[in-house]
Amino acid sequence: MYICNNCWNESLKWTGQCSFCKEWSSLVEFKESKVKWSSSGEKKQLTKMSDVSSQSEEKITTLSQELNNLLGWWITLWSIILLSWEPGIGKSTLGLQLTKLVDKNIIYISWEENENQIISRAKRLNIHSEKISLLCENNLENILKTLESSTSDIVVLDSISVITSNNASGSAGSISQVKEVAEKIVDFWKSTNTTIIIIWHVTKDGNLAGPKTLEHLVDTVLFFEWERYEEVRILRSLKNRFGSTGEIALFKMTEVWLEDIKNPGLEFISSENDDTTPGSSLSITLEWNRALVVEIESLTTYTKFGYPKRSTRGIPSPKLDLILAVLWKYSKVNLDSYDVYVNIVRWIKVDEPGIDMSIGASIISSKLGKPIKRNTIFIGEISLTGRIKNCFWIEKRIKEAVKLGFENIIIPDVDIKLKEKVHLIKIKNIWELVEKIAL
Ligand code: TYD
Ligand code: MG
Repeated sequence: MYICNNCWNESLKWTGQCSFCKEWSSLVEFKESKVKWSSSGEKKQLTKMSDVSSQSEEKITTLSQELNNLLGWWITLWSIILLSWEPGIGKSTLGLQLTKLVDKNIIYISWEENENQIISRAKRLNIHSEKISLLCENNLENILKTLESSTSDIVVLDSISVITSNNASGSAGSISQVKEVAEKIVDFWKSTNTTIIIIWHVTKDGNLAGPKTLEHLVDTVLFFEWERYEEVRILRSLKNRFGSTGEIALFKMTEVWLEDIKNPGLEFISSENDDTTPGSSLSITLEWNRALVVEIESLTTYTKFGYPKRSTRGIPSPKLDLILAVLWKYSKVNLDSYDVYVNIVRWIKVDEPGIDMSIGASIISSKLGKPIKRNTIFIGEISLTGRIKNCFWIEKRIKEAVKLGFENIIIPDVDIKLKEKVHLIKIKNIWELVEKIAL
């Protein structure tokens, strides 16, 4: 059998290009260990559900609200968590930082960094708990032997990409090694009451296809989302056996470690734009159940030659084409000979319709040279018929906008049932939106 080094897709014959991820020359031969065929089985004891003690419910609440929120309010003891993404994003910092966030016995296993480096990092993080032990080792058998006689609650393995087993061929990080190491760790985990946090490096384009096999073995898969130019780190759960997936934890990278972003509401807007800046408009989006105010910036300029340019960052480019088409057809704001650039500031990505009206507003504002006041927020979807449509959880968005101090809340013409007295401005269609901005 052959396995793709890039995405771990299995294939029966060798091909120059992986049929799944399209990577070239990535297929390597993989020999599964021969299993003896046997028809006899062993009779096992059944366990009555009612006899199972509630110990499997034990949870650890961390000092980080963000982490608690992401994990379903706690780390479940006896779980395996995979923490993954590119080098340099902060996995080791978070792994070590955990020792400050929970009051448990922790073993931190590392090989990439030597003892002195880890100790100096721990000093920076102000960690001096008696409950933390360090092991610098990369041999799986040595690690497991050491862990057997330890009484730790949590083991952080930093990272699985550098650990090798005597029982697998290939170098550290190769498929055969990672498979063997992961399986043995899971066997160990099943026989103990330990929480294991496995750190795994992926490359920029590797997404999470790489550790698919690992994904199946673990309870929770967490990965960081980031932009190199921003200090914000978003930790997402891709799989969570004990909580909901799609949750996020928001952290800010400081000089030392990752700090919770407690009030993310206004964290992602630009501090440079003000009431006099045309082309900027605010909206409120929901990241799972978290409301974030996002800022859309647009620039429209006359096309000097050739086709007009369309460029987006943070929103899918077909959305821009659609909004421009609707603008032209129903409001006569014609941008046929204008280049149009649309960004969401601070490198946030939003792919939901609730910010459509705000995108439209920022484009109109740039084209007309009419700034929009910063106390204004737009919530609503633009339909193909030029109408402004309702969007999901509109009440929740309005409430959040009020809490954050917005006074002009512009929404579609829908019935809103709110206990609070809120001044809402209702807009039926794109033409009314243009008129509102042109005022
Ligand atoms: P590190 O945790 O080593 O990343 P990874 O294990 O994913 O490769 O972090 C990378 C570098 O960034 C390291 O030099 C420490 C630094 N760093 C900070 O200064 N502040 C922070 O909040 C974080 C997370 C990292
Ligand atoms: Mg690291």
